[in-house]
Amino acid sequence: MTNLLENKVALVTGAARGIGQAIALQLAADGADLALGDVQAEWLAETAEKARALGRRVECYAMNVADGASVGEAVAKIAADFGKMDVLVNNAGITRDTLLIRMSEEDWDQVLDVNLKGAFLVTKAVARFMMKQRTGSIVNIASVVGVMGNAGQVNYSASKGGLLAMTRTLAKELGSRNVRVNAVAPGYINTAMTKQLPEAVKEVMLRNVPLGRPGEPEDVAKAVAFLASDNAAYISGQTLPVCGGMIW
Ligand code: NAI
Repeated sequence: MTNLLENKVALVTGAARGIGQAIALQLAADGADLALGDVQAEWLAETAEKARALGRRVECYAMNVADGASVGEAVAKIAADFGKMDVLVNNAGITRDTLLIRMSEEDWDQVLDVNLKGAFLVTKAVARFMMKQRTGSIVNIASVVGVMGNAGQVNYSASKGGLLAMTRTLAKELGSRNVRVNAVAPGYINTAMTKQLPEAVKEVMLRNVPLGRPGEPEDVAKAVAFLASDNAAYISGQTLPVCGGMIW
């Protein structure tokens, strides 16, 4: 618990559970007020209650990141409610895993729409405010598979690789307005998303983790809080892997 993010307003997408919930709670513990977004808005109550218990202002917004109208509506409400936006965490993400041969066009489109187009839509809506404010920090939650690839995840790895490229490009576009853009690339993290993986896949993944254990959502959240804060004031366009040593 620090005061690193005191007087800052942070929007976290996909904040209802898993890594998004842990990020929201870490940012709140470090002093930020929160705008929580999720397509399952009714699931946000738990995150909101825990963050309010830390003494923060918290508002919840129904938001489908893949839908421009839904994003526009939610971001307009957030701007009206809080009057500013200092931190954006593009965390909402989904998987539709299967081998290329079996992957449908719908599996491809859904994953690219949420993971990549979603980050584009939310960033575009929020960056307008950050550019005017001349300050802001955007953190994209990518994945190690966006760097190293993973059989059975051609849609997901392409979306996360795209997100890493988008991070570097936006750092170049927004830097002159003092808006920083970075990515965190989690490895194998204990959440609902990974629970559904077959045991054999989990075993193979763990064999490639030098630290020998899956990460926890809080491990990712701490890295996000650092990049969001002024402690990272001269860091932009970078990818921070949080993966127990799996890559680089
Ligand atoms: P999760 O499935 O537990 O939570 C994802 C959240 O995003 C849910 O609350 C869901 O309702 C929300 N969401 C889904 N589609 C949405 C949409 N269209 N609009 C708004 N919200 C939406 O997932 P988890 O594991 O917490 O993952 C969070 C992020 O971390 C994702 O971007 C994921 O790709 C990434 N990640 C996860 C890893 C892991 O091992 N769990 C590893 C690497 C990256």
